[in-house]
Amino acid sequence: MTAESTQVSYDTLIPNNVGLSSDRRVLKGLEQWHPEFLNWWHDMGPDGFQHVPVYLRTAVSVDRDGWAQFGYVKMPDYRWGVLLAPRIEGRTIGFGHYLGEPVWQEVPGEQRAALRRLIVIQGDTEPASVEQQRHLGKTAPSLYDLRNLFQVNVEEARHLWAMVYLLHKYFGRDGREEAQELLRRRSGDSNSPRLLGAFNEATPDWLSYFMFTFFTDRDGKMQLESLAQSGFDPLARTTRFMLTEEAHHMFIGQTGIARIVKSTCLAMRKNDLHDPYDVERIRPLGVIDLPTVQRKLNFHFSVSLDLFGSEISTNAAGFFDSGIKGRYRENGIEDDHQLVTATYSVLKLEQGHIGSVDTAALPALNARLRDDYVRECARGVDRWNTIIRKAGIPFTLFLPHVAFSRTVGEFADIHATPQGHILTDDEWHQQKHRFLPTADDEAYLNSLMISVFEPGEFASWIAPPGNPIDNKSANFKYVRLNR
Ligand SMILES: [Fe+2]
Ligand SMILES: [Fe+2]
Repeated sequence: MTAESTQVSYDTLIPNNVGLSSDRRVLKGLEQWHPEFLNWWHDMGPDGFQHVPVYLRTAVSVDRDGWAQFGYVKMPDYRWGVLLAPRIEGRTIGFGHYLGEPVWQEVPGEQRAALRRLIVIQGDTEPASVEQQRHLGKTAPSLYDLRNLFQVNVEEARHLWAMVYLLHKYFGRDGREEAQELLRRRSGDSNSPRLLGAFNEATPDWLSYFMFTFFTDRDGKMQLESLAQSGFDPLARTTRFMLTEEAHHMFIGQTGIARIVKSTCLAMRKNDLHDPYDVERIRPLGVIDLPTVQRKLNFHFSVSLDLFGSEISTNAAGFFDSGIKGRYRENGIEDDHQLVTATYSVLKLEQGHIGSVDTAALPALNARLRDDYVRECARGVDRWNTIIRKAGIPFTLFLPHVAFSRTVGEFADIHATPQGHILTDDEWHQQKHRFLPTADDEAYLNSLMISVFEPGEFASWIAPPGNPIDNKSANFKYVRLNR
């Protein structure tokens, strides 16, 4: 089996298309890591559902059509594999100092430390999200949603495998040590937290979960897209295949919030309620009022923006210049792909005011990727607003200003409203309950989190999906709970 193969090999414990069976050193390393991974999965994976068959897709090839196979599987038996998108013959580096040179099949010495860092950071987010979501199964609003949660969980775990493979294969002893650390850190643990802030936040309820898959997973997508441009070809190919799975995670967030909004709008109309702020009368209907949806959105959007790092970053400039991390859809951008003299407009705080400033484009790459991200998020929010508008309810969801509630970058030291007006400390503390989820919101959401496990049924606060997974009938048993 060659590295170019699109077929997956099951002749070793680890399904792969990287010729593992003839790579004794890496195979041995991964076979040792595997039981530790399974221990982690048992301890930190979905709580209470390890032994039930779940209707999951498993990646079985990297063919565009038919890369996934659906079937019932108990999660600990899921075939986590190492899959790289096919090698593109003659591929050259698409940006930076090495523009036009052949991509690297091995790690260049100069880029080693930075590449390892990027792979470790990406790898750390994957198990973190599984940890954050491990209690959600018990309060799933339907078997359909339960199945989708577990699909995301097993795929995030596969993404961990993907990064661990790169560490074992290309980074020797320190790579293997990093792979172990990825199983040791824990989301939210004060002694040994995950590396990035948003991945240490709790995911206490399903609204948070859908917001997470929409906003935080989408940061992941943007990072993967940039890494898919990498001059280090194995990283580019790995992330390219991960993006195939990631599309489903985006879908779950997009449609999850859409279904919540729809349920709220339908209930309001049915009960002749027109004021979206009339929470006293909306909540007794068992749906989530739109202002609470907005506050949750504000929270998840702002913590996800922090993941892009500082607007101006010499690290980001270095990653680009040295050919290891490109821009979002680098190929489609029409410029010199080197950015030596280019400028980019960045929002900054200047003498107490927020305004656009033209800066050197190279150090502004985090800001640029964040802008690409914000544009994509806005398209999703538009679709939610279409549902609200069609229902005739006077409410518009919106993305808060990038200066709102930040802990990283240009606006970390100020307070601002979701509209971008700067507030004093006192004003912020007086007003923040209007912008961010309150204890009362959380208590209400928590009161809704009661599992619905009858096939084809859904909790009151979420509408059924438009299209079922794998064209199954409406009351298909996505998870066999044996009850
Ligand atoms: Fe992932
Ligand atoms: Fe994801």
